[in-house]
Amino acid sequence: MKTILKTLAAALAVVAVPAAAQTVNAGKYQVIIGDCEGCHGKDLAGGVELQTPFGKLVSSNITPDKDTGIGNYSAEDFKQAMTKGVAPGGKRLYPAMPYPYYAHLDDRSLTDMWNYLKTVKPVKKSINVNQLRFPYNLRIGMLGWNAMFFHPKPIVQDPAKSAAWNRGAYLVNGPAHCGACHAPKNMFGADKSTALTGTSLQGWFASDLTGDRHAGLGAWSVADIVEYLGTGRSNRSMASGPMAEVVEYSTSQMSNADLTAIAVYLKDLPPSRGNGGAATGVDVQMKAGAVAYDISCAACHGRDGKGSAIFPPLAGNANITQVRADTIVRMVLAGGKAVATPTAPTGPGMPSLGWRLNNDQVANILTYVRNNWGNQAPAVSPETVGRIRGSLRSGS
Ligand code: HEC
Ligand code: HEC
Ligand code: HEC
Repeated sequence: MKTILKTLAAALAVVAVPAAAQTVNAGKYQVIIGDCEGCHGKDLAGGVELQTPFGKLVSSNITPDKDTGIGNYSAEDFKQAMTKGVAPGGKRLYPAMPYPYYAHLDDRSLTDMWNYLKTVKPVKKSINVNQLRFPYNLRIGMLGWNAMFFHPKPIVQDPAKSAAWNRGAYLVNGPAHCGACHAPKNMFGADKSTALTGTSLQGWFASDLTGDRHAGLGAWSVADIVEYLGTGRSNRSMASGPMAEVVEYSTSQMSNADLTAIAVYLKDLPPSRGNGGAATGVDVQMKAGAVAYDISCAACHGRDGKGSAIFPPLAGNANITQVRADTIVRMVLAGGKAVATPTAPTGPGMPSLGWRLNNDQVANILTYVRNNWGNQAPAVSPETVGRIRGSLRSGS
């Protein structure tokens, strides 16, 4: 009886929410899926710097302020900007704003999102968006880019797959824009293919998300992926850098059903060609690396590489065995802080060790870590460590 009453009350509560509030709530959830705060800032007033291979872009103010935000947009203007990359006055947006992915949003979702954005507090803040190098700073160039690369194909439902798989395919390839970081790019910054086989990104390597056992998510379960996206950590890896921000502003606030859908879809991706297998002919590096690892790393990550409740494992962690070692080199040189989420408010820190270890030592340790405890991946060279040390110094 009690449960019947509860269900009844819940049903009434749903009916009692006015239609306007419902679309605003639905729109807020769309903003979470699209990770708008990740680029436009927590207050959506913009000013967040984005490094691209073509120079610097600064995100615009998308609060309803009339002078400096999008307060003069109509609902139709908003839909054009989101799905065609064209702002009022014919201004061509750069694809650092992921409109090629948002083009998959349906009309209902866009209306909800617009209704929510109108309720956000207006902030007066003008932004100098375009700080790209010549000739990329000329917006007219985007006409050509769009003609060559902007052909959003509809994401078709596959009736042979489950509802969760189809929802996952839509989120990953559509509004959650995972490929914006995880798909390889061509020299014009457009996705080379939609396969999520990983790519270098601002001194990190956005991991291979396919089913490869060493370089991808082959060894992860659906539950591992859901936990990672929901909290920023699983017993396989911890999110840092750009992925920590995605978790903080977007995936940690998604529903469990949506996270499961994403995981089901990712688990079904065919394995990539992998990372090229174990390093060979590196006995000297491996021996030196083993000794240095025990001194500098084992205290936290364990001699067995298994980590603990607060330190991520390095054994069986696909982040360690990506084709390119950018993320882990950067981690050792500059340290990092794991993401803080509502369920785990303070993330543990990884100390920066770049001041204490030279390029050879870092290369030895990481070659050892990438080829011990069942891990397999190509060796790391001192030159790679030097390149990333250089990019950290120049702040890009
Ligand atoms: C990966 C970073 C990124 C994400 C995520 C992102 N944006 Fe943007 N957005 C940008 C950048 C950069 C610009 C400026 C582009 C330009 O001026 O060419 C921009 C511009 C815009 C504009 C045009 C403003 C104008 O100049 O008139 C709108 C509208 C907008 N974004 C809305 C959104 C919404 C809504 C979301 C979430 C669903 C979102 N953006 C997510 C980076 C991002
Ligand atoms: C802004 C860029 C960016 C976006 C967008 C992004 N990622 Fe990532 N992701 C990264 C980077 C960089 C890493 C590697 C660093 C790390 O693991 O902390 C990573 C790591 C991961 C990992 C861990 C893989 C491993 O082997 O440890 C998973 C799983 C993942 N991302 C899933 C996703 C999914 C699903 C989406 C879309 C909802 C997504 N990412 C969107 C940048 C991004
Ligand atoms: C004082 C403890 C401590 C020491 C010493 C330490 N680490 Fe870490 N390490 C951490 C913590 C905490 C994290 C998680 C932080 C994060 O993901 O941002 C981490 C993360 C990492 C990651 C990223 C893992 C992932 O899943 O993305 C790598 C790679 C790594 N450490 C390698 C090393 C190596 C190699 C050494 C020795 C040269 C070392 N660490 C020394 C605490 C430590």
